[in-house]
Amino acid sequence: MDTLIGLKRTHSCNDLNKQSDGQEVVLCGWVSRRRDHGGLIFVDLRDRSGIVQVVFSPDTNAEAFKKAESVRNEYVLAVRGKVALRDKDTINDHMATGEIEVLGDELRILNAAKTPPFYIQDNVDCDELLRLKHRYLDLRRPEMQYNIMLRHRVTTAMREFLDKNNFLEIETPMLGKSTPEGARDYLVPSRVNPGKFYALPQSPQVFKQLLMVSGMERYFQIARCFRDEDLRADRQPEFTQLDIEMSFIEREDILCLMEEMLAFLFKKAVGKDIPTPFLRLSYADAMARFGSDKPDMRFGMELIDISEAVRGSDFKVFETLLQNGGQVKAINVKGHAGIPRRELDGLVNYVAGFGAKGLAWIQNTAEGIKSPILKFFSEEKIQEIFAAAQMETGDLLLIIADKPAVVAQALGQLRLEMGRRLNLIDEDKLSFLWVIDFPMFEYDEEEKRWVAMHHMFTAPRDEDIHYLDTNPGMIKAKAYDVILNGIELGGGSLRIYNRDLQEKIFKAIGFSREEGMSKFGYLLEAFEYGTPPHGGIALGLDRMVMLMAKRSSIRDVIAFPKTQSASDVMTQAPSEVSPAQMKELSIKSDILVKKPSAAKE
Ligand code: AMO
Ligand code: AMP
Repeated sequence: MDTLIGLKRTHSCNDLNKQSDGQEVVLCGWVSRRRDHGGLIFVDLRDRSGIVQVVFSPDTNAEAFKKAESVRNEYVLAVRGKVALRDKDTINDHMATGEIEVLGDELRILNAAKTPPFYIQDNVDCDELLRLKHRYLDLRRPEMQYNIMLRHRVTTAMREFLDKNNFLEIETPMLGKSTPEGARDYLVPSRVNPGKFYALPQSPQVFKQLLMVSGMERYFQIARCFRDEDLRADRQPEFTQLDIEMSFIEREDILCLMEEMLAFLFKKAVGKDIPTPFLRLSYADAMARFGSDKPDMRFGMELIDISEAVRGSDFKVFETLLQNGGQVKAINVKGHAGIPRRELDGLVNYVAGFGAKGLAWIQNTAEGIKSPILKFFSEEKIQEIFAAAQMETGDLLLIIADKPAVVAQALGQLRLEMGRRLNLIDEDKLSFLWVIDFPMFEYDEEEKRWVAMHHMFTAPRDEDIHYLDTNPGMIKAKAYDVILNGIELGGGSLRIYNRDLQEKIFKAIGFSREEGMSKFGYLLEAFEYGTPPHGGIALGLDRMVMLMAKRSSIRDVIAFPKTQSASDVMTQAPSEVSPAQMKELSIKSDILVKKPSAAKE
């Protein structure tokens, strides 16, 4: 082992190409692969930029050759040598540096390495938990290095764009106050205030609004947010938002600026041209046409309301539902009337998973119509249904009847599933859209009260405010979400900026006056000192980079993510703490009392 690097690095691996022929270079990196061909040793040397082949031969340098014999995968090396063009028949087209190699003249072994638990290469076929346990090795793999570098390019471009547009980057506290609504908080006990807790921010929402009261006018932050919620592929307990707030704006200002920014980011980070303006859909239209408030617009197969066409048949299920506020909707799966019965039965199970009590189908084959519900419908009714659904020979109609919310959920998911199964989704397409005019509130059946659909600082549309006392369900909010390929990339709104209205919203979601004061008294007070009209948005950075990198999990674009159970398998967080730490924080845990072994120091 060499204790000094002793050589000054001159190049990164990927810097080298045909033009480097004859140049003397010093490279540093890891052994990606080593092949011993008797008289020659080939080492694929890898650094952050890429891989280059180094050849050690006794003819070039006997000492270096001798050392190279002891080298193994993942050893850390510094190499000095001359760049040489490879013979025509040894050129490697799969390697960016495949036309050249470096003739090793001096080798310094800077560190040895154990054999890694998985191959340090792209597309490794190993359990993700093993990758996460050795994340430092996983991050050595070129595809992961690409993702992390991409993330850096995105945040750098964000700063560049926002700085150019007069935004100030301002940090807000991590130790904050626990607030109601939203997800569960992560709490942090305060040692010096026994029995009291900080909450980690779910987002910097209130602080960014206060910065508008402060006259900062344009704020942004690449902000870490913490939410204790059920995790999915696109959800982590801690994640990063690009958080933005602006004063003296209308909705149009922020939507246009965000389109410009997203186009800039996608061009800069992945070289993609994003056409603007983005399509816009009202929440009501998105739900009606796609059964989702984040529709994937990369393919059609829209939901069709056939309630009127089926009304008046002998099919009791549909009739009863229609009489009780239900609806009957369908998707036309073009050209797939020949789908096997087995698959249709599978689809029934699939939609049952989303709450649908049934799935009916009509196969319009060249040999005739096949359907379990055919017997309930007259020839005219069938024609009416076909006209409504634009059915042609060869088409398959999939029908769900239920309450509107269940139809939207189950048929919306079925549409996505059919899109995936039939390869209707162009993976290269980037399909942006704005969803606007969200309802201000949704009714929580469990809690028997209205809850804010976006958040409680979102302004209602002026023309709807009068519904506050009579029918809050009718109020639309000045809120907007930006959707990319069926994933919610970001969301925001114009805000309430007067105390009266804010208090009314608190009341509508069931806060008492005292509750409103104790939770957000400081904000209500601030609103009385000259608050500018303002609004903003937060974009999920992890999701954006995931979509740019064409990955299906945000874990792949976060250096050290958590598992589905919100734990870190490498550091073993969360973990027990010592009784002394608990005592210092004035915390007692039932679980520690029951399991004293867990409290070992
Ligand atoms: P919202 O809660 O919609 O809005 O969050 C904004 C965006 O943050 C991303 N996101 C997440 N990403 C990964 N893991 C999670 N658990 C997670 N939760 C949210 C999504 C989402 O669109 N304060 C408001 C914004 C505002 O009104 O300005 C807010 O936080 O991409
Ligand atoms: P049944 O008469 O109950 O055998 O139902 C006849 C067909 O209607 C079956 O294919 C069921 O899956 C379908 N069906 C039943 N309930 C619904 C529903 N709520 N929505 C759509 N199809 C349904």
